[in-house]
Amino acid sequence: MIQNFDLQPATRVSGALAVPGDKSISHRALMLSGIAEGTSQVSGFLASEDCLATLKAMRALGVRIDQSGPTDVQVHGVGMHGLRAASQPLDMGNAGTAMRLFAGLLAAQSFSSRLVGDESLMKRPMERVAKPLREMGADVRTHNGTPPVDIGGDRPLRGIDYAMPMASAQVKSAILLAALYAQGPTRVSAPAVNRDHSELMLASCGVTVETAGLSTTLYPPQRLRAQDIVVPGDFSSAAFFIVAGLLAATDEGLLIRNVGMNPTRTGLLDILRSMGAAIEVLNARFSGAEPVADLQVRASLLHGVAVPPAQVALAIDEIPVLFIAAACAEGETLVTGAEELRVKESDRIAAMSAGLAALGVVHSVMPDGMRIQGRASGPAFGGGAIESFGDHRIAMSFAIASLRAAEAIQVRDVANVATSFPGFVPLARSIGISIR
Ligand code: S3P
Repeated sequence: MIQNFDLQPATRVSGALAVPGDKSISHRALMLSGIAEGTSQVSGFLASEDCLATLKAMRALGVRIDQSGPTDVQVHGVGMHGLRAASQPLDMGNAGTAMRLFAGLLAAQSFSSRLVGDESLMKRPMERVAKPLREMGADVRTHNGTPPVDIGGDRPLRGIDYAMPMASAQVKSAILLAALYAQGPTRVSAPAVNRDHSELMLASCGVTVETAGLSTTLYPPQRLRAQDIVVPGDFSSAAFFIVAGLLAATDEGLLIRNVGMNPTRTGLLDILRSMGAAIEVLNARFSGAEPVADLQVRASLLHGVAVPPAQVALAIDEIPVLFIAAACAEGETLVTGAEELRVKESDRIAAMSAGLAALGVVHSVMPDGMRIQGRASGPAFGGGAIESFGDHRIAMSFAIASLRAAEAIQVRDVANVATSFPGFVPLARSIGISIR
């Protein structure tokens, strides 16, 4: 059954909320704890479809994982050499992170594996991980560049010095996972800063990982140490409510608690502030190695900007909702250097353009971005039906657009929101968004 969002226009938001745990960190917590020695307690775990795909796959590979509460899991690590072959292909669902990181982890095992996924994931590029893994000596095969990914095990891996053509944390992490098992150190370089959750968590497990500028070097360890992990709220989920607050908060404002503030993730804050956003960072603290804070957001009169391309990798998952903010900003906003958006859960440039066009927003599309003409006062959007293209972040972005719409909006095909943000609807409703 197709699920839709029905949104009433022009409501106001206020109050306080906390978003669920970070998706990137939750995937990594399961994988690294699974190959650590001892039991790791993971709290604040994101029990979304994507992370549950990783959880099921780790269980299929022989790791015992107990769930003592909705967001609490205990992972009984089997050690670096304790994984065993799964009896079936491992189904990654919609999760690109799971598929790419598992490709690296499994390339180093003594057994073979096959990785499959849903219709969207089966179309996504996998050579970007297969190529460097093959350079390390692994047997990794894609089918015309896409899944299924077939991994023949039992290959000795060697450390490599690899320059990634794109600033991908998934590719980097896949290489680092394989590098745990390689002969000699591995160095990965990126063309731009990208999220460093793998490096931080590996270091907390006792692995020597050095970052110098845009390069990361990993020295293969003997073992990984189990640890307790408290997963912070996902900045990418908070992003929808940050923009909601800017577009439609009452004088009271909107407080978002326990947001992961890793600087490799918070590019959206800098971009929005350059557009005139009033966002205050409160109670800054650490959750393990990851910075966390509460965010107080006030309604703000935004103006368009040219987003510096260096900011794009630091805000890559937030660009769809940035486009919604840009449509509500006076003048023109220009985003370039974002061609990676074309190969996410949907082609996010095309998907956002289709929705913006349906709502009457003047914009033009480029291969690597978009130019948007915004309106800071009054409604910035018309109303009507929007396709999500089965992409969670497109669905949630257009839910936020309703706050500045002249008429009702329907977003079609939104079941995918459960891949990253279970409970989005009740949470959105709790702050005043009229969503069914
Ligand atoms: C992620 C990295 C990013 C991001 C994705 C999660 C990760 O992808 O878009 O949602 O957890 O490493 P790329 O590595 O393809 O940039």
